[in-house]
Amino acid sequence: MFICICNAIRDYELRDAALRCDGDAEAVYALLGKVPQCRQCLEEAEELIAEERALAGVAGELLAG
Ligand code: FES
Repeated sequence: MFICICNAIRDYELRDAALRCDGDAEAVYALLGKVPQCRQCLEEAEELIAEERALAGVAGELLAG
């Protein structure tokens, strides 16, 4: 599903990029070579980024034992 219509960013692309940088949604968009346009997606994007990073943290803790 598309998270950002203006930039045609799909949820899985955003999740993947969220794990490859530390910044906010705009930083993650920049990693994808995108810049927010209408900005209506940013709140949902921030939630998705936080969720993905939290899941990665839990997975890392489980793997560490
Ligand atoms: S929907 Fe993402 S900038 Fe417009």
